Amino acid sequence: MKLDEQRKLQLEEIYNTLLNDEKVLKMKDIPMHFGSNCYEHSFKVAKLAMKRALRHKSVNLEALLIAAIFHDYYLYDWRKDKSKKKRHGIDHPSIAAKQAKRDFNISDQSIKMIESHMWPINFKDFPDSKEARILNLADKTVATIEFMSSTKQKKNHRDKTLEDISKLF
Ligand SMILES: [Fe+2]
Ligand SMILES: [Fe+2]
Repeated sequence: MKLDEQRKLQLEEIYNTLLNDEKVLKMKDIPMHFGSNCYEHSFKVAKLAMKRALRHKSVNLEALLIAAIFHDYYLYDWRKDKSKKKRHGIDHPSIAAKQAKRDFNISDQSIKMIESHMWPINFKDFPDSKEARILNLADKTVATIEFMSSTKQKKNHRDKTLEDISKLF
């Protein structure tokens, strides 16, 4: 998909605004897979989802970008909270969706993508749009890369490449 200048700027603005948003920055305090944190993971997923989405025609890039950034916006550490530990894999997409709606009033289309990002673990929430499937697979790819590189990574290592999304478009 070829984007015009205005569209590129619009996407960059969404990305960069959320990258520096006070509430989004709270995800830095939530540890993720193997030395990563929720913030870093989410923006990596967002970048990969955008990269893959650009290969398709007619994808709602804005809705996908926002869903990717908020897909793990659950804001608790399941390792410390025993009540959350057991059902985290199943429950966190709907918690993230609800909190993203509460804090940022994001669209229903993005909400549905967030809710289905853990399919097939969340078997009832099938990713029923192209955008939802791109998010679902981008999340699994990034989680796998994080797992594979965990031994090389320092704890909470900050990925400098997150800062620049402009090369993507
Ligand atoms: Fe997740
Ligand atoms: Fe994720």
